[in-house]
Order: sequence, then structure tokens, then C-alpha cells
Amino acid sequence: MYERYISQLAHVQVVTPCIEDSLEFYRNVLGLEESGRDGDTILLRGWGEHFLHSLELVEGAAPGLGHVGWRAQGPEQLEAAVKRIEAAGAGIGWADANAGRGKAYRYRGPGGHEHQIFWDVTRFKPSVAEAPLFPNRAQRFNPRGCAVRSLDHVTVATKNPAGDAKWYAELLNHRFMEETVADPEAGFGDFVVFAMTTTCERSHDLGLVADFSGATGRINHIAYWLDSPDELHRACDVLLDADVKIEFGPGRHGMGEQHYVYFREPGGVRIELNSGGYKNYEPDFETVRWSPKQGSNVYYRNLRLPHSMHESFPPVDMSKAREQMARSTLFE
Ligand SMILES: [Fe+2]
Repeated sequence: MYERYISQLAHVQVVTPCIEDSLEFYRNVLGLEESGRDGDTILLRGWGEHFLHSLELVEGAAPGLGHVGWRAQGPEQLEAAVKRIEAAGAGIGWADANAGRGKAYRYRGPGGHEHQIFWDVTRFKPSVAEAPLFPNRAQRFNPRGCAVRSLDHVTVATKNPAGDAKWYAELLNHRFMEETVADPEAGFGDFVVFAMTTTCERSHDLGLVADFSGATGRINHIAYWLDSPDELHRACDVLLDADVKIEFGPGRHGMGEQHYVYFREPGGVRIELNSGGYKNYEPDFETVRWSPKQGSNVYYRNLRLPHSMHESFPPVDMSKAREQMARSTLFE
């Protein structure tokens, strides 16, 4: 039987070297709500999210990933997951409850990324002014900036995207949905340059992109959801009017079939907006394999991924990795 240990991607902790500028951006340009603080950590959420937060913003020397937070399927599944993580030698230990969640078990993936899994969560309680008209909503719809609704996924950088995806799949039953191999002429054999896994109905909530730098534990981007591609195109206008440079898009990915646009927040971390895409509920779905030429990244085959998109965070000297990146054919 296929057992679900994880119910959803719950939050991502992002490190920024300029927390006030980042906070201003997340609130007024992206349209997140500041919903609490836990010490120096700022908690933010999209207007459609029921939990207290989906983003933890912390200050640090360089932009990067703090950790990825996953909610367990239930208290028993949390205990079962912890046993499996410890047996795999990936455990770090328990963290105390904080403002946004109950006690959490910390662990590290093979690419050096820190995760935590927990069951208890704090739910957002709206003020009288924020109270929703519709009883199934967490708060009144009060669009600000891009007005993103909810966290969609996080994409991390790792030296072995397929190896990591299999590890997450075997350990905690993330479903390994799709992968892109390098162009056969690039001489990488069947090396996978991008892989994506999911714990939900969407094509992915965790992306894994090849990192040729030798660094570990880096993040490439976080992604927030909008209900329609029309809203995504409206968000592009919001970004341009806020003097935010659009790095890539708007366009549509072949993998997942999602509409996208990419840009960066003031601290440096890349943000993607998503809409559309397929839904999939099959526990035995077989991993789909793509080549870049089939449109894995660019559905309409009319764009090339800018070289800058390969930058992950914290930034490192990529000059040695430049040739390998070019050969992977994902980039110009
Ligand atoms: Fe993405």
C-alpha cells in the first residue's frame, strides 16, 4: 500500500541580507500578509492560506535557504516518518514548537538541504476587518500587489537531481513525477538536469535542478500560486510598474504544464509565479522523461532559458561550471 507521510509543503524559510527591503517587497509587491513574528523571524502568508505562514523570512549574510517545512499526514505518520529518517541516517533532531507550528523533526536531504516535518500547525485567525465574507476562506480577499494566493513549490539546486528525487521518493513517498535529461549530444549520458517530486495533486512541490558548482544546500527559487494565467499576466504589470526586472517569462513550462514568470526579491532569491498545470492523483504514476528539445522547460519552444536562471543561492563563482551548464542545453 502507498502510505502518505506528508500532506503538504507548508512553508519555506528564506534568508535575505536586507530583511526590511525584502519584507516591503513580499508585502507590497508580491502581496503576502505579515501574520506574525517569532523572535527575529518574520512570518508571512498568501491571502488564501489557512495556516499562519508559508514563508519565514530571516536575515543572514547572503540570500539562501533556511529550511523547507513539510506537514505530516497525521501524528502517527509523523512518528513513522521520523523513524524512517533516522534509519536512513538523515536525522538532525527535534526542534521546539514555534509561533507557526508544533514540534518539528529536522533532517537533511542528500543535496545538503535542511527540512523539517511536523503535524501541529497554527491556523491564521483574521481580525474583524480581515474576516472573510465566504466561510471557506481564511480571510477577506484584499488584493495588494501581485496578490498571490498560496505557496506552490520550492526548487533547490543539487549535484544529482534524479538521485535526490529517488531518495525523497523512497524515504517519504514523495512522488517522482517528471525529469529532464541533458541533450544526448551533450555527452552526459542520461544525466538528469531537472527533476520534480510532489506530495499533493500538483505536478510538483519540490523541484531539483542540477548544480555544477560543487556547493551544497542551495536554493534556486520559491514559487507562489495565482488562480489564473490572466492573474499572472496582471502580476507582470504589477512587477514592471514596481521596477522589478522580469528574469524569464511569462511563458509556459512543458513539465507540469504550468504558466510561469520569474524575478528576484531585493535580497536576491528568485521568485516564480505559477498558474494552471495538470493535477495528478496516481500513487503509481511512472516518472515522465523529457529532453529539453521536447519543450520540457519552454512549452511553446519560442524562448531559451537565460543563463542567469542557473544562478542559485547563496551565489558562488560559477565560471568553472559555465561550460557544463552550456552543454546541458538548458541554457543559452
Ligand atoms: Fe519552479
